[in-house]
Amino acid sequence: MTTTTGTAAVTPSVGTAHTRVEGREKVTGAARYAGEIPFADLAHGWLVVSTIARGRIRSVESAPVEAMPGVLTVLHHGNAPQVDGDYVGLLGKPDPTITLFQTDRVPFAGWPVALVVAETPEQAREAAEALVVHYDEEPHDVAFSAGHPGARKPEDPSAETEKGDLAAELAAAAAVVDAEYTTPEEHHAMMEPHAATARWDGGRLEVVDSNQGSMWVADELAKMFSLDLGSVRVLSEHVGGGFGSKGLRPHQVAAVMATTVLHRPVRVVLTRRQMFSITGYRSPTVQRVRLGADAEGRLSAFDHEALSLTSTVHEFIERSADYGRAMYDADAHHTVNRVVALDVPTPTFVRAPGEAPGSFALESALDELAEKCGLDPIALRARNEPEAGPVSGLPYSTRRVIDCFEEGARRFGWADRDPRPGVRREGRWLLGTGTAAATFPSNAMPSTAAVTAEADGTFTVRITAADIGTGARTALTQIAADALEVEPSRIHMRIADSDFGQAMIAGGSMGTRSWAWAVTSAAKELREQLALGGAIPEEGITARSNTAEAIGALAQKERHSFGAQFAEVAVDAATGEVRVRRMLGIFAAGRIVNPLTARSQLRGGMVWGLSMALHEEAIRDRAFGSHVGPDLAGYHVAAHADVPPIEVGWVDDPDPDDPVGIKGIGEVGIVGAAAAIANAVWHATGVRHRHLPIRPDRVL
Ligand code: MOS
Repeated sequence: MTTTTGTAAVTPSVGTAHTRVEGREKVTGAARYAGEIPFADLAHGWLVVSTIARGRIRSVESAPVEAMPGVLTVLHHGNAPQVDGDYVGLLGKPDPTITLFQTDRVPFAGWPVALVVAETPEQAREAAEALVVHYDEEPHDVAFSAGHPGARKPEDPSAETEKGDLAAELAAAAAVVDAEYTTPEEHHAMMEPHAATARWDGGRLEVVDSNQGSMWVADELAKMFSLDLGSVRVLSEHVGGGFGSKGLRPHQVAAVMATTVLHRPVRVVLTRRQMFSITGYRSPTVQRVRLGADAEGRLSAFDHEALSLTSTVHEFIERSADYGRAMYDADAHHTVNRVVALDVPTPTFVRAPGEAPGSFALESALDELAEKCGLDPIALRARNEPEAGPVSGLPYSTRRVIDCFEEGARRFGWADRDPRPGVRREGRWLLGTGTAAATFPSNAMPSTAAVTAEADGTFTVRITAADIGTGARTALTQIAADALEVEPSRIHMRIADSDFGQAMIAGGSMGTRSWAWAVTSAAKELREQLALGGAIPEEGITARSNTAEAIGALAQKERHSFGAQFAEVAVDAATGEVRVRRMLGIFAAGRIVNPLTARSQLRGGMVWGLSMALHEEAIRDRAFGSHVGPDLAGYHVAAHADVPPIEVGWVDDPDPDDPVGIKGIGEVGIVGAAAAIANAVWHATGVRHRHLPIRPDRVL
């Protein structure tokens, strides 16, 4: 038959609510995740991690364990395959935590020291728990603090920006805020733990995984194991959360090593406790903010100095001080991200890396400045809207942050607010409201896509996208349908297979935008081919795209998503408990592809902001260097009972230079949410809380 597109009767799908295309599979249990896909002859690996925080492995007593029921092998630094730890991947050189078993050094507690492989997971676990490892222990330092003598500026020149005479502007300012804020170590404890199954299949390495980018993982595995990229295939059909943690991690490498040694498929699933040390986390931060303003609240001095930690084996910087670079200008403007290397696991990207803790500090400090100037916090922000990027000097593509505040103020009932703190009481509850701005960079990265017109009148889209639970698969279905001017039901969306080629990862709020661009472009090309007429052959007609050149023009403007966060809290005057009564987030974040999943994603970010404000805190024991309670019993995240009604909305804000108008909504939802709550706690109680989480014992 002849396939046509451009049917006039088809209503555009982008901008309308669409339930997840894989929703039925997920709710019926038909959708299978990496750790539950069956394989014949499957063996199971269990990682063993170090119990000391620093030292050397003296010996691994593998012989007794190898004699245990079902045990197939024990891999460790003495016998594991050698890998290349010096390659350059998407994010630079690999963290040695991931190039497993190449050294006897132990740089932190929870470092992978061995993999026990057995016929069943139970046998592997029992043997792993029985494995005796002898260490030569060395003194360690895991104590993070503002005054740590090891604190330094990273080599990356973008760690610091500076203009104007800060000391002079601060001295001349009518109002000054100078405050220190801290945030604790936080973990992205996604529902689905990391899991991978590796096998050699006809000379190709195949890894069934749970990740944020199958091509990313394939590329790193190929480089690490010195393989051609074409001989590695990584699949990641369904993913139960990622949040920055699901790139290449020890489990995939362990599975590849074991399948190479054993010549049969090997699965490695991480435990929740292992995730606390080997899949990354958000560094604690200490942030000093100094703001100077004239009597009308116009900023003249701006200083944001942030300190985070990294491990001794790899450098990751939590760039909290970057937040103000796009948000607020001043004649004197200084930002710096410092770091200290300790005997701790390597931190990593966690949703809104930098902006999440940075916005807590800075948006709290602005609230303090508004109080000092006797200004409404929204009026203060309106008075400080920059004309161009304060550091980049570039014009904004769009910047509708004040529109977000105005719409939010209207919906939240802000106009009736009495600015005085500590004066509203309802029985034992003190009541308050707070607000904060939000922003996150909006960019796109080169991607490729293929769109095929099938002989049966349907269309198949192939792109190495990842749907980590966001609804990306559904959004791309809608985008493809509109680009082809057909109903979404005629689209087969195939994602998360590295054989589909290079594409952006689900990260940096850039996934859907980058993929949408490639899908739109391939669809346009296909329509041009179909317009030539003729029958569709059995194998269909395929058009391909590569957006590498097209997205180059984006760099000419400062591009960000923005938002305004509002919160109302009640503070128990007797127990210090903080209850969030309602939250509202209004965002200016580009064209919203699917209001249903977008609202859910933004709300999820706000829930995390609430969790960050009140609950989340990983405690490290200084004596042992390991965590206290590295699980979801010891590490508290907001539960249903903690989460109030959350309203999410947006203002129309299409990116003028994007083919679909998308900006990105992955991270902006968490930004500013904790500050809005902290500011509301001040409004309720009259006391500033500059240290997260705002636990009852801190409130009292
Ligand atoms: Mo995100 S923290 O870039 O996965």
